[in-house]
Amino acid sequence: MLLYLVLLSSFTSILADIHFTEAVLQHHSGLPTFLHNGDFKDIKPDFHMAEIVSASVTVPEEETKFPHFELMDSLRLVGGNLPVTKPGYFSNLPQLLTLSLEDFVIKKLKSGMFEGIPSVSSVFLQNDQIEDIEDGAFGSLKFLTAIDLSSNEIEKIRPEWFLNCDGVEKLDIRHNTIVEIQDGAFKYLKNLTKLDLYSNKIVSVGENAFMGLRSLSTLVLAGNQLEDIRDDLVRGVESLDKLNLSQNRLRCLSEKFLNSLRKSINVYFINNKQDEDCKGKLYIFTKTHPDINIQYLTEDQEYERCQKNMTVNIDCNLLQLRRYWWTHPDHSMFFG
Ligand SMILES: *[C@@H]1O[C@H](CO)[C@@H](O)[C@H](O)[C@H]1NC(C)=O
Ligand SMILES: *[C@@H]1O[C@H](CO)[C@@H](O)[C@H](O)[C@H]1NC(C)=O
Ligand SMILES: *[C@@H]1O[C@H](CO)[C@@H](O)[C@H](O)[C@H]1NC(C)=O
Repeated sequence: MLLYLVLLSSFTSILADIHFTEAVLQHHSGLPTFLHNGDFKDIKPDFHMAEIVSASVTVPEEETKFPHFELMDSLRLVGGNLPVTKPGYFSNLPQLLTLSLEDFVIKKLKSGMFEGIPSVSSVFLQNDQIEDIEDGAFGSLKFLTAIDLSSNEIEKIRPEWFLNCDGVEKLDIRHNTIVEIQDGAFKYLKNLTKLDLYSNKIVSVGENAFMGLRSLSTLVLAGNQLEDIRDDLVRGVESLDKLNLSQNRLRCLSEKFLNSLRKSINVYFINNKQDEDCKGKLYIFTKTHPDINIQYLTEDQEYERCQKNMTVNIDCNLLQLRRYWWTHPDHSMFFG
């Protein structure tokens, strides 16, 4: 059973008679609120999930930890003034799998924050004004597979942030202010499969930026300020099957770059600065390399091109037919 509560200065009595295993606590009253072990003393032991939104609390000096819940596997705290950066604050939650801290002021992420929660597999740290991270801050999380650092204030990634992060598969750093991806930035993330750098301010990517990421299958560099990419940007990224370069300032993709792409990759290259020359070049490349899919026109641009140019018209008809097929699941065009 899921319970929605408005977190007031004392809700112990409300909780006493109800059995629930999940709760969303929201503080709307604007009054100071007290959140400590005593508040939860009547909650049944199978309580496993909580979201606490803008808790404005006075934490007694001697209470340095979030209340004890043996079975809690998911905790989401949004805003408020809980002392989330205190070393070991979450160490009363031995079974925690997902920790989500949003809208806090963290600035520099310290490793002590993750002490005592060894089973955590995902940490979501969105909109926490993070600029810097202590070396190996995530290292104590032996089962960590996903890190979300989106909507923070990261300008530069240091490889040492991710020391001992061998098991991490997904890293999301969307909506930060990264300008440059340096060589080896992700070298400690050997098992990374998805890296999302959408909506930063990236103008350059180092020669060996993605070197050694053998399992990387999705790389998103969309929504940046790239004017130029190296011919060997993704050389050695053996498993890459989706590369999103949309919404940058690229004029075209070089011959060498195109030839370095592995088979069956999907490249998204819409909303860049392609001129007609480039479009012609990519048209021919995709015609002669049917196992590489490069999407370089928006649907509107594709439609316009089809209307104008008889040479490509036949491909367009095929394309449109295929699209019609997928967008009309009853396939009525074909079967009446
Ligand atoms: C990394 O991936 C490999 C292959 O999938 C796997 O055998 C290994 O256990 C992973 N390492 C960690 C630390 O999860
Ligand atoms: C590529 O990134 C753009 C953002 O620039 C996004 O709108 C689009 O959905 C992405 N494409 C794919 C196929 O993921
Ligand atoms: C039609 O498109 C092809 C491939 O891009 C190009 O080579 C050709 O010049 C175009 N023809 C016209 C009339 O624009």
